[in-house]
Amino acid sequence: MAPPKYLEAAKKACQRRNDALAAFYQPPEWDESKLPANLTEYSLDSGYYSSEELKIIQTSARDILVNIAQKEWTSLAVTQAFCKAAALAQKLTNCLTEVLFKEAFETARTLDEHLELTGSIVGPLHGLPISLKDCFIIAPYPASIGLAALANQPQNNDTVLVSILRELGAVLYAKTNVPTSMLMTETTNCIWGECRNPLQKLLSPGGSSGGEAALIAFHGSPLGVGTDLGGSIRTPAAWCYLYGLKPSVGRFPSWGGMSGIPGQEFVPAVSGPMARDLDSLRLFCETILSPAAAPWRKDPKCLPMEWKTSVLKQGTKLRVGLIGRHDGVVHCHPPVERALGLVKTALEAQGHEVVDWRVDDHGEILRTLQLGLSTLSGTTVADMLEEWDEPLLPSMGSFKASPERRIVQATVVGSNNLKKGELQKSYLERMASIDCIIQAVSPFAAARLGATQERFYVGYTAVWNLLDLPVCTFPVTMADRDLDKARDLSQFQYLNDLDSKVQAEYDPDIYHGAPVSLQIVGKRLEEEKVLDMVDVVAKALKQY
Ligand SMILES: *[C@@H]1O[C@H](CO)[C@@H](O)[C@H](O)[C@H]1NC(C)=O
Ligand SMILES: *[C@@H]1O[C@H](CO)[C@@H](O)[C@H](O)[C@H]1NC(C)=O
Repeated sequence: MAPPKYLEAAKKACQRRNDALAAFYQPPEWDESKLPANLTEYSLDSGYYSSEELKIIQTSARDILVNIAQKEWTSLAVTQAFCKAAALAQKLTNCLTEVLFKEAFETARTLDEHLELTGSIVGPLHGLPISLKDCFIIAPYPASIGLAALANQPQNNDTVLVSILRELGAVLYAKTNVPTSMLMTETTNCIWGECRNPLQKLLSPGGSSGGEAALIAFHGSPLGVGTDLGGSIRTPAAWCYLYGLKPSVGRFPSWGGMSGIPGQEFVPAVSGPMARDLDSLRLFCETILSPAAAPWRKDPKCLPMEWKTSVLKQGTKLRVGLIGRHDGVVHCHPPVERALGLVKTALEAQGHEVVDWRVDDHGEILRTLQLGLSTLSGTTVADMLEEWDEPLLPSMGSFKASPERRIVQATVVGSNNLKKGELQKSYLERMASIDCIIQAVSPFAAARLGATQERFYVGYTAVWNLLDLPVCTFPVTMADRDLDKARDLSQFQYLNDLDSKVQAEYDPDIYHGAPVSLQIVGKRLEEEKVLDMVDVVAKALKQY
């Protein structure tokens, strides 16, 4: 039998990446069996970095900018430190796709010269390395999104966000790994292979912006950008212990990226920032949504709404709706349930009000989302995979091609749209009495590699895509085998088959040390207030 067609495409793409890395860095070889679980910690202590490099890669985005503007560090030194870290991150986690170190060093040199000659910076992101999920197009590099059909196809036009980042002075140096066509909640594909979690190597970094989350958690990037249409920023951010913002549709520029299901606008994908600290998210928001950058002049779907600072008055007491141990469809695992309890106690200790939030409509919201997506996602992905002999992994089962799906009825599309509107309207009314909702991001703490293939569930994140509400993740705790004992499943009231499979997956020893994060859901287009509320919760957790 002939070898599968995709292998050739994969070989060529990986060669391109490996050559681009090897031109500058040859990280040491590691004995896999001797690597500890925490690859981030290991790399920071390994002697691979100089003391200045260590300092740079552990500095927040805003402080890096200050140090460059004050000529403490050159942009070149900063870029080199992150490229060196990214090279090691690739070796240990497989988080990169396209490598642009050569271009990045040239950009950084040009920026340094400009500052030296004129005494001024070119823009508010002068000299800052920013990493991007693979779907953002940096021409002429391919944007393969893990598909053989696109793996070696040069692209002509930069994504709007890419050209804005350049104008603001950012240095673009790497793109990051995603699952096949960005349609899974783990990061694996037939071109670049599987990415693992740098904080615990037996766990997944999540998906679909999983390479991005892994690179940031490894200190290989101070700030990255992902996309989200069902949880693709939030799940990896949560599983890699990061902050990740999924904005409302239209708030940030999304024009001109590669899509897994092009033309599907029932639930549009949105772009948003991911970082180890909340302030880096704010930095991204205020610079991209500034009058100077004016993304609404370049993206016809971007709303002309400048970023506002400090919208939440100091000392405001919040009224929070808390979604407890299940969403009406699937229960969360014990470490996630403990995290919800921690946040409730911490908020109440600061005088905030926490009320139980009902979820009886979530099942219907998710069914509507699923129906809308499957009607409009057609068969493009399945056809592309088939042409290159690429397997359709179990978690992508709903994208299987079938004769019926080739015929989309306008009446079905219309009734899905009506239903979506009705669900949004009733949720809007339901949320009038509260400031925000806090919920788990997924039933799992960061899940064991491969675990979600037969237990695919993104309901905790995807509801908010259909409702089009802004959401931000925040780190809470780590799973702990002593605190998060297995439940007695013989007595457990499962909600359905999937729930029983998800519950059976929990093992306190395997999940020990897995990051647990939660999400805050705000009202549509209130991204500023969402970040302010995350700040309130993070501070309450710290004091608790
Ligand atoms: C892994 O190492 C990093 C860096 O030292 C640390 O912040 C983190 O808490 C460690 N453990 C986990 C599970 O993230
Ligand atoms: C790319 O840009 C060129 C020149 O601006 C334009 O003619 C072309 O239609 C663009 N292609 C796509 C796919 O947007």
